[in-house]
Amino acid sequence: MNMRVFYKSLLFLLGFFSVQTKTEIEVNVAAWGKADQSTTYENCDAQRALDGINYTFTHTEEKSNPWWKLDLTKTYSVNRVTITNRLDCCSYRIDGAEIRVGNESSDLNRNPICAVVSTIPAGATYSYSCGGMEGRYVIVDIPGTSKILTLCEVGVYAIGPFSEEDSCEDET
Ligand SMILES: *[C@@H]1O[C@H](CO)[C@@H](O)[C@H](O)[C@H]1NC(C)=O
Ligand SMILES: *[C@@H]1O[C@H](CO)[C@@H](O)[C@H](O)[C@H]1NC(C)=O
Repeated sequence: MNMRVFYKSLLFLLGFFSVQTKTEIEVNVAAWGKADQSTTYENCDAQRALDGINYTFTHTEEKSNPWWKLDLTKTYSVNRVTITNRLDCCSYRIDGAEIRVGNESSDLNRNPICAVVSTIPAGATYSYSCGGMEGRYVIVDIPGTSKILTLCEVGVYAIGPFSEEDSCEDET
């Protein structure tokens, strides 16, 4: 193979790989959204699941069907959702939580279920595959009476790349 063919092939391969990495990149878009929850216990507000600090947590009051809702402000194809559970106490409270992805902002149960949490060890981060479910909202809810929903961190991984505009949205 002469040098010219060699360089041409090299450039082709480099182009190929850069396209591959661009389309395959997985981005945590959770912090680009705004969180809300059914009720708030003391100062443990919904945004604490997005602060990147694994020992702060959200905390609802003890009520029926508590929920946490993330509004991503536009539709994403959700590859997976991660939940980091509380380390210091009460890790069992997350058992039975449902993860939903969809477009319904008020009747949350109409959003299809992506996964149901069986259990997450104290302080652990578990990942739940959503297989590209599309939606603007990601919801975590616990069906039942006298439930408390606590989340240390939630990650929402979508397949990028996304435009510059997306990543600057929160800073403008
Ligand atoms: C949410 O809306 C998007 C865009 O209209 C659509 O593609 C997607 O299927 C919807 N998701 C659900 C769960 O209905
Ligand atoms: C937070 O992360 C650190 C470092 O990985 C780990 O040692 C600690 O147990 C985590 N804490 C919680 C509450 O998950």
